[in-house]
Amino acid sequence: MRLLVAGGAGFIGSNFVRLRAAEHGDEVVVLDKLTYAGRRENLRDAAHTFFHGAIEDPAAVAEAIDGADAVVNFAAETHVDRSIAEPDAFVRTQMDGTYVLLEAARERGVRYVQVSTDEVYGSIAEGSFTEASPLRPSSPYSATKAGADLLVGSYVHTYGLEAAIVRGANNYGPFQYPEKLIPLMILNALHGDALPVYGDGLQVRNWLYVEDFARAIGVVLADGAPGETYNAGGPDEVANLDVVRRIVALTGADPGLVEHVTDRPGHDRRYSLGSDKLRALGWDARVGFADGLERTVAWYRDAAWWWEPIRSGEYRAYYERQYGRTLG
Ligand code: NAD
Ligand code: DAU
Repeated sequence: MRLLVAGGAGFIGSNFVRLRAAEHGDEVVVLDKLTYAGRRENLRDAAHTFFHGAIEDPAAVAEAIDGADAVVNFAAETHVDRSIAEPDAFVRTQMDGTYVLLEAARERGVRYVQVSTDEVYGSIAEGSFTEASPLRPSSPYSATKAGADLLVGSYVHTYGLEAAIVRGANNYGPFQYPEKLIPLMILNALHGDALPVYGDGLQVRNWLYVEDFARAIGVVLADGAPGETYNAGGPDEVANLDVVRRIVALTGADPGLVEHVTDRPGHDRRYSLGSDKLRALGWDARVGFADGLERTVAWYRDAAWWWEPIRSGEYRAYYERQYGRTLG
Protein backbone atom coordinates (compact mmCIF):
# COMPACT_ATOMS: atom_id res chain seq x y z
CA MET A 1 0.00 0.00 0.00
CA ARG A 2 1.19 3.54 -0.74
CA LEU A 3 0.46 5.60 2.37
CA LEU A 4 0.54 9.36 2.76
CA VAL A 5 1.43 10.10 6.38
CA ALA A 6 0.82 13.77 7.19
CA GLY A 7 2.78 14.91 10.25
CA GLY A 8 4.98 11.81 10.00
CA ALA A 9 8.09 13.59 11.35
CA GLY A 10 6.53 14.10 14.79
CA PHE A 11 6.49 11.80 17.80
CA ILE A 12 3.63 9.39 17.04
CA GLY A 13 3.81 9.81 13.26
CA SER A 14 7.47 8.74 13.14
CA ASN A 15 6.81 5.73 15.35
CA PHE A 16 3.92 4.80 13.02
CA VAL A 17 6.06 5.20 9.88
CA ARG A 18 8.79 2.98 11.40
CA LEU A 19 6.24 0.29 12.24
CA ARG A 20 4.52 0.38 8.84
CA ALA A 21 7.71 0.36 6.79
CA ALA A 22 9.23 -2.47 8.88
CA GLU A 23 6.22 -4.73 9.54
CA HIS A 24 3.85 -4.07 6.66
CA GLY A 25 6.22 -3.22 3.82
CA ASP A 26 4.17 -0.13 2.93
CA GLU A 27 5.56 2.52 0.63
CA VAL A 28 5.36 5.54 2.93
CA VAL A 29 5.28 9.16 1.84
CA VAL A 30 5.62 11.74 4.63
CA LEU A 31 4.31 15.31 4.31
CA ASP A 32 5.45 17.49 7.19
CA LYS A 33 5.88 21.20 7.83
CA LEU A 34 8.77 20.54 10.25
CA THR A 35 7.55 22.80 13.03
CA TYR A 36 9.63 22.82 16.23
CA ALA A 37 8.11 19.37 16.94
CA GLY A 38 8.78 17.82 13.54
CA ARG A 39 12.30 16.47 13.07
CA ARG A 40 13.91 14.63 10.15
CA GLU A 41 16.08 12.66 12.59
CA ASN A 42 12.91 11.07 14.04
CA LEU A 43 12.70 9.16 10.75
CA ARG A 44 16.37 8.41 10.22
CA ASP A 45 15.92 4.62 10.48
CA ALA A 46 12.55 4.39 8.68
CA ALA A 47 12.18 3.94 4.92
CA HIS A 48 10.09 6.80 3.46
CA THR A 49 9.91 9.55 0.87
CA PHE A 50 9.82 13.04 2.37
CA PHE A 51 7.87 16.12 1.25
CA HIS A 52 8.42 19.34 3.20
CA GLY A 53 5.13 21.26 3.29
CA ALA A 54 2.05 22.25 5.25
CA ILE A 55 -1.26 20.41 5.12
CA GLU A 56 -3.05 23.73 4.67
CA ASP A 57 -1.13 24.25 1.38
CA PRO A 58 -3.19 22.66 -1.45
CA ALA A 59 -0.18 22.51 -3.83
CA ALA A 60 1.99 20.67 -1.29
CA VAL A 61 -0.84 18.26 -0.53
CA ALA A 62 -1.54 17.62 -4.25
CA GLU A 63 2.10 16.70 -4.83
CA ALA A 64 2.35 14.42 -1.80
CA ILE A 65 -0.98 12.60 -2.23
CA ASP A 66 -0.31 11.65 -5.85
CA GLY A 67 -0.73 7.86 -6.20
CA ALA A 68 -1.62 7.30 -2.52
CA ASP A 69 -4.06 4.54 -1.55
CA ALA A 70 -4.71 6.06 1.86
CA VAL A 71 -3.98 9.13 4.00
CA VAL A 72 -3.31 9.06 7.73
CA ASN A 73 -3.38 12.52 9.28
CA PHE A 74 -1.16 13.09 12.33
CA ALA A 75 -0.30 16.69 11.45
CA ALA A 76 -1.32 19.03 14.26
CA GLU A 77 -0.16 21.54 16.79
CA THR A 78 -0.26 19.29 19.85
CA HIS A 79 0.79 20.99 23.07
CA VAL A 80 -2.05 22.18 25.32
CA ASP A 81 0.08 24.82 27.13
CA ARG A 82 1.15 26.36 23.80
CA SER A 83 -2.49 26.43 22.66
CA ILE A 84 -3.39 28.43 25.77
CA ALA A 85 -0.56 30.92 25.15
CA GLU A 86 -0.90 31.18 21.32
CA PRO A 87 -3.93 29.45 19.77
CA ASP A 88 -3.48 30.84 16.24
CA ALA A 89 -1.44 28.02 14.67
CA PHE A 90 -3.79 25.46 16.24
CA VAL A 91 -6.74 26.85 14.30
CA ARG A 92 -4.78 27.09 11.02
CA THR A 93 -3.37 23.55 11.12
CA GLN A 94 -6.25 21.67 12.70
CA MET A 95 -9.07 23.42 10.82
CA ASP A 96 -7.66 24.76 7.52
CA GLY A 97 -5.17 21.91 7.22
CA THR A 98 -7.65 19.10 7.85
CA TYR A 99 -10.02 20.75 5.35
CA VAL A 100 -7.37 20.84 2.60
CA LEU A 101 -6.38 17.21 3.20
CA LEU A 102 -10.03 16.09 3.19
CA GLU A 103 -10.68 17.93 -0.10
CA ALA A 104 -7.67 16.25 -1.71
CA ALA A 105 -8.79 12.82 -0.46
CA ARG A 106 -12.36 13.41 -1.64
CA GLU A 107 -11.32 14.54 -5.15
CA ARG A 108 -9.20 11.41 -5.60
CA GLY A 109 -11.39 8.90 -3.71
CA VAL A 110 -8.56 8.13 -1.24
CA ARG A 111 -9.28 6.39 2.07
CA TYR A 112 -8.63 8.65 5.10
CA VAL A 113 -7.83 8.14 8.80
CA GLN A 114 -7.86 11.09 11.22
CA VAL A 115 -5.66 10.74 14.30
CA SER A 116 -7.51 12.35 17.19
CA THR A 117 -7.42 12.51 20.96
CA ASP A 118 -9.34 11.64 24.12
CA GLU A 119 -9.17 15.36 25.00
CA VAL A 120 -12.12 16.08 22.67
CA TYR A 121 -14.40 14.49 25.32
CA GLY A 122 -13.13 16.76 28.12
CA SER A 123 -12.65 15.57 31.70
CA ILE A 124 -14.45 12.62 33.33
CA ALA A 125 -14.69 12.16 37.13
CA GLU A 126 -15.67 8.46 37.09
CA GLY A 127 -15.98 5.69 34.51
CA SER A 128 -14.69 5.92 30.94
CA PHE A 129 -15.67 7.72 27.75
CA THR A 130 -17.11 5.71 24.89
CA GLU A 131 -17.23 6.82 21.26
CA ALA A 132 -20.83 7.95 21.88
CA SER A 133 -19.83 10.39 24.65
CA PRO A 134 -20.50 14.06 23.85
CA LEU A 135 -17.62 16.30 22.77
CA ARG A 136 -16.75 18.81 25.50
CA PRO A 137 -13.25 20.07 24.71
CA SER A 138 -11.64 22.38 27.29
CA SER A 139 -8.59 23.96 25.64
CA PRO A 140 -7.98 25.63 22.26
CA TYR A 141 -5.97 22.48 21.39
CA SER A 142 -8.79 20.06 22.11
CA ALA A 143 -11.45 22.35 20.63
CA THR A 144 -9.60 22.51 17.30
CA LYS A 145 -9.10 18.73 17.36
CA ALA A 146 -12.85 18.31 17.97
CA GLY A 147 -13.56 20.73 15.11
CA ALA A 148 -11.35 18.67 12.80
CA ASP A 149 -13.16 15.46 13.84
CA LEU A 150 -16.53 17.05 13.04
CA LEU A 151 -15.26 18.13 9.63
CA VAL A 152 -14.14 14.56 8.90
CA GLY A 153 -17.61 13.32 9.88
CA SER A 154 -19.23 15.81 7.53
CA TYR A 155 -17.13 14.56 4.58
CA VAL A 156 -18.30 10.99 5.23
CA HIS A 157 -21.94 12.03 5.61
CA THR A 158 -22.09 14.53 2.75
CA TYR A 159 -19.62 13.24 0.15
CA GLY A 160 -19.34 9.57 1.09
CA LEU A 161 -15.60 9.87 1.83
CA GLU A 162 -14.23 6.61 3.22
CA ALA A 163 -12.88 8.08 6.48
CA ALA A 164 -12.55 6.89 10.09
CA ILE A 165 -11.31 8.54 13.28
CA VAL A 166 -9.08 7.05 15.98
CA ARG A 167 -8.89 8.81 19.36
CA GLY A 168 -5.87 8.02 21.49
CA ALA A 169 -5.11 8.48 25.18
CA ASN A 170 -1.89 10.16 26.42
CA ASN A 171 1.03 8.63 24.52
CA TYR A 172 4.60 8.27 25.74
CA GLY A 173 7.77 6.61 24.42
CA PRO A 174 10.81 7.39 22.23
CA PHE A 175 11.02 10.62 20.18
CA GLN A 176 8.46 12.63 22.20
CA TYR A 177 9.34 16.34 22.29
CA PRO A 178 10.34 17.29 25.87
CA GLU A 179 7.58 19.88 26.33
CA LYS A 180 5.28 16.96 27.30
CA LEU A 181 5.11 15.66 30.88
CA ILE A 182 7.08 12.40 30.69
CA PRO A 183 10.08 13.44 28.55
CA LEU A 184 10.25 16.82 30.32
CA MET A 185 10.46 15.12 33.71
CA ILE A 186 12.97 12.51 32.50
CA LEU A 187 15.34 15.09 31.01
CA ASN A 188 15.00 17.48 33.96
CA ALA A 189 15.63 14.60 36.37
CA LEU A 190 18.74 13.53 34.41
CA HIS A 191 20.02 17.14 34.48
CA GLY A 192 19.14 17.85 38.14
CA ASP A 193 16.60 20.53 37.10
CA ALA A 194 13.38 21.22 39.03
CA LEU A 195 10.40 18.95 38.26
CA PRO A 196 7.43 21.35 37.81
CA VAL A 197 4.15 19.67 38.79
CA TYR A 198 1.04 21.70 37.91
CA GLY A 199 -1.26 22.33 40.89
CA ASP A 200 -1.71 19.40 43.29
CA GLY A 201 -0.46 16.86 40.70
CA LEU A 202 -3.46 14.59 41.26
CA GLN A 203 -4.70 14.89 37.67
CA VAL A 204 -5.02 11.45 36.09
CA ARG A 205 -3.97 10.38 32.58
CA ASN A 206 -4.61 7.06 30.83
CA TRP A 207 -1.07 6.31 29.56
CA LEU A 208 -0.64 4.48 26.25
CA TYR A 209 2.75 3.34 24.93
CA VAL A 210 3.33 4.82 21.48
CA GLU A 211 3.84 1.48 19.70
CA ASP A 212 0.43 0.35 20.97
CA PHE A 213 -1.17 3.48 19.55
CA ALA A 214 0.68 3.02 16.23
CA ARG A 215 -0.78 -0.52 15.99
CA ALA A 216 -4.25 0.82 16.87
CA ILE A 217 -4.05 3.28 13.98
CA GLY A 218 -3.00 0.43 11.68
CA VAL A 219 -6.06 -1.60 12.74
CA VAL A 220 -8.39 1.33 12.01
CA LEU A 221 -6.67 1.88 8.66
CA ALA A 222 -7.22 -1.77 7.72
CA ASP A 223 -10.60 -2.51 9.27
CA GLY A 224 -12.23 0.70 10.52
CA ALA A 225 -15.67 1.30 9.03
CA PRO A 226 -16.31 4.60 7.20
CA GLY A 227 -17.83 7.22 9.49
CA GLU A 228 -16.87 5.32 12.64
CA THR A 229 -14.72 6.49 15.54
CA TYR A 230 -12.51 4.18 17.63
CA ASN A 231 -11.06 4.94 21.07
CA ALA A 232 -7.58 3.64 21.93
CA GLY A 233 -7.13 3.83 25.70
CA GLY A 234 -4.09 2.86 27.72
CA PRO A 235 -3.93 -0.05 30.21
CA ASP A 236 -3.11 2.15 33.24
CA GLU A 237 -4.45 5.34 34.81
CA VAL A 238 -1.80 7.18 36.80
CA ALA A 239 -1.80 10.51 38.68
CA ASN A 240 0.85 12.99 37.50
CA LEU A 241 2.60 13.06 40.87
CA ASP A 242 2.92 9.29 40.79
CA VAL A 243 4.37 9.48 37.25
CA VAL A 244 6.96 12.00 38.44
CA ARG A 245 7.86 9.95 41.54
CA ARG A 246 8.40 6.87 39.36
CA ILE A 247 10.69 8.88 37.08
CA VAL A 248 12.63 10.13 40.11
CA ALA A 249 13.09 6.52 41.22
CA LEU A 250 14.10 5.25 37.75
CA THR A 251 16.63 8.04 37.17
CA GLY A 252 17.98 8.13 40.73
CA ALA A 253 17.22 11.88 40.91
CA ASP A 254 16.79 13.84 44.13
CA PRO A 255 13.09 13.70 45.21
CA GLY A 256 13.55 17.29 46.45
CA LEU A 257 13.53 18.42 42.79
CA VAL A 258 9.73 18.01 42.70
CA GLU A 259 8.11 21.44 42.84
CA HIS A 260 4.40 22.32 42.72
CA VAL A 261 3.87 25.27 40.37
CA THR A 262 0.85 27.30 39.19
CA ASP A 263 -1.82 25.09 37.65
CA ARG A 264 -2.66 25.05 33.92
CA PRO A 265 -5.76 27.22 33.23
CA GLY A 266 -8.84 25.04 32.58
CA HIS A 267 -6.83 21.91 33.46
CA ASP A 268 -8.73 18.66 32.78
CA ARG A 269 -8.73 16.52 35.92
CA ARG A 270 -9.00 13.02 34.51
CA TYR A 271 -9.07 11.21 31.16
CA SER A 272 -10.24 7.64 30.72
CA LEU A 273 -11.09 5.88 27.47
CA GLY A 274 -13.11 2.71 26.92
CA SER A 275 -11.66 0.76 23.96
CA ASP A 276 -14.18 -2.08 23.53
CA LYS A 277 -14.95 -1.11 19.94
CA LEU A 278 -11.30 -1.31 18.90
CA ARG A 279 -10.84 -4.53 20.89
CA ALA A 280 -13.64 -6.04 18.82
CA LEU A 281 -11.35 -5.46 15.80
CA GLY A 282 -8.57 -7.42 17.53
CA TRP A 283 -6.51 -4.60 19.08
CA ASP A 284 -5.28 -4.43 22.67
CA ALA A 285 -2.61 -2.43 24.44
CA ARG A 286 0.36 -4.74 25.12
CA VAL A 287 2.72 -2.50 27.11
CA GLY A 288 1.90 -1.74 30.75
CA PHE A 289 2.93 1.60 32.26
CA ALA A 290 5.74 0.26 34.49
CA ASP A 291 7.39 -1.54 31.56
CA GLY A 292 6.80 1.30 29.07
CA LEU A 293 8.17 3.94 31.45
CA GLU A 294 11.32 1.88 32.06
CA ARG A 295 11.84 1.51 28.30
CA THR A 296 11.24 5.24 27.81
CA VAL A 297 13.70 6.31 30.52
CA ALA A 298 16.29 3.94 29.01
CA TRP A 299 15.74 5.44 25.53
CA TYR A 300 16.19 9.05 26.76
CA ARG A 301 19.32 8.09 28.72
CA ASP A 302 20.91 6.86 25.47
CA ALA A 303 19.47 9.50 23.13
CA ALA A 304 21.55 12.59 23.93
CA TRP A 305 22.24 12.79 20.15
CA TRP A 306 18.50 13.42 19.77
CA TRP A 307 17.65 15.71 22.70
CA GLU A 308 20.82 17.80 23.01
CA PRO A 309 20.03 19.91 19.91
CA ILE A 310 16.44 20.32 21.18
CA ARG A 311 17.47 21.44 24.67
CA SER A 312 19.84 24.00 23.20
CA GLY A 313 17.39 25.37 20.59
CA GLU A 314 13.82 26.80 20.50
CA TYR A 315 12.94 24.72 23.54
CA ARG A 316 15.07 26.88 25.88
CA ALA A 317 13.09 30.03 25.01
CA TYR A 318 9.80 28.12 25.28
CA TYR A 319 10.83 26.76 28.68
CA GLU A 320 11.64 30.23 30.00
CA ARG A 321 8.31 31.60 28.78
CA GLN A 322 6.29 28.69 30.18
CA TYR A 323 8.08 28.11 33.48
CA GLY A 324 9.64 31.53 34.11
CA ARG A 325 13.06 29.99 34.69
CA THR A 326 16.02 28.68 32.73
CA LEU A 327 17.12 25.09 32.22
CA GLY A 328 20.32 23.98 33.91
P1 NAD B 1 3.97 16.15 17.56
O1 NAD B 1 3.76 17.56 17.98
O2 NAD B 1 5.13 15.38 18.07
O3 NAD B 1 4.05 16.08 15.96
C1 NAD B 1 3.22 16.82 15.11
C2 NAD B 1 3.80 16.76 13.72
O4 NAD B 1 2.93 17.49 12.83
C3 NAD B 1 5.19 17.41 13.61
O5 NAD B 1 6.03 16.62 12.82
C4 NAD B 1 4.91 18.74 12.93
O6 NAD B 1 6.00 19.25 12.19
C5 NAD B 1 3.73 18.37 12.04
N1 NAD B 1 2.90 19.52 11.67
C6 NAD B 1 2.40 20.46 12.51
N2 NAD B 1 1.69 21.35 11.80
C7 NAD B 1 1.73 20.95 10.50
C8 NAD B 1 1.16 21.44 9.31
N3 NAD B 1 0.42 22.54 9.29
N4 NAD B 1 1.39 20.77 8.16
C9 NAD B 1 2.16 19.65 8.17
N5 NAD B 1 2.73 19.16 9.26
C10 NAD B 1 2.51 19.78 10.43
O7 NAD B 1 2.60 15.44 17.88
P2 NAD B 1 2.25 13.93 18.30
O8 NAD B 1 2.24 13.85 19.76
O9 NAD B 1 3.05 13.00 17.50
O10 NAD B 1 0.72 13.87 17.82
C11 NAD B 1 0.39 13.42 16.52
C12 NAD B 1 -1.13 13.39 16.38
O11 NAD B 1 -1.69 12.52 17.36
C13 NAD B 1 -1.78 14.74 16.59
O12 NAD B 1 -2.84 14.87 15.68
C14 NAD B 1 -2.30 14.68 18.02
O13 NAD B 1 -3.43 15.50 18.18
C15 NAD B 1 -2.66 13.21 18.13
N6 NAD B 1 -2.61 12.63 19.49
C16 NAD B 1 -1.52 12.83 20.27
C17 NAD B 1 -1.47 12.20 21.54
C18 NAD B 1 -0.28 12.36 22.45
O14 NAD B 1 -0.36 11.95 23.61
N7 NAD B 1 0.84 12.90 22.02
C19 NAD B 1 -2.55 11.40 21.94
C20 NAD B 1 -3.65 11.24 21.10
C21 NAD B 1 -3.66 11.84 19.86
O1 DAU C 1 -4.66 12.87 26.11
C1 DAU C 1 -4.05 12.96 24.86
C2 DAU C 1 -3.29 14.25 24.80
O2 DAU C 1 -2.17 14.10 25.66
C3 DAU C 1 -2.83 14.63 23.40
O3 DAU C 1 -3.96 14.85 22.60
C4 DAU C 1 -1.96 15.89 23.44
O4 DAU C 1 -1.45 16.17 22.15
C5 DAU C 1 -0.81 15.64 24.39
O5 DAU C 1 -0.05 16.83 24.53
C6 DAU C 1 -1.31 15.20 25.76
O6 DAU C 1 -1.99 16.29 26.45
P1 DAU C 1 -1.82 16.53 28.02
O7 DAU C 1 -2.12 17.94 28.32
O8 DAU C 1 -2.54 15.49 28.81
O9 DAU C 1 -0.24 16.20 28.12
P2 DAU C 1 0.97 16.93 28.85
O10 DAU C 1 2.15 16.04 28.69
O11 DAU C 1 1.10 18.35 28.44
O12 DAU C 1 0.52 16.92 30.37
C7 DAU C 1 0.19 15.71 31.02
C8 DAU C 1 -0.26 16.07 32.42
O13 DAU C 1 0.87 16.57 33.16
C9 DAU C 1 -1.30 17.17 32.48
O14 DAU C 1 -2.19 16.90 33.57
C10 DAU C 1 -0.49 18.43 32.77
C11 DAU C 1 0.64 17.89 33.64
N1 DAU C 1 1.93 18.63 33.52
C12 DAU C 1 2.45 18.81 32.29
C13 DAU C 1 3.65 19.49 32.14
C14 DAU C 1 4.23 19.72 30.76
C15 DAU C 1 2.60 19.05 34.68
O15 DAU C 1 2.13 18.84 35.81
N2 DAU C 1 3.78 19.71 34.52
C16 DAU C 1 4.33 19.97 33.30
O16 DAU C 1 5.41 20.61 33.24
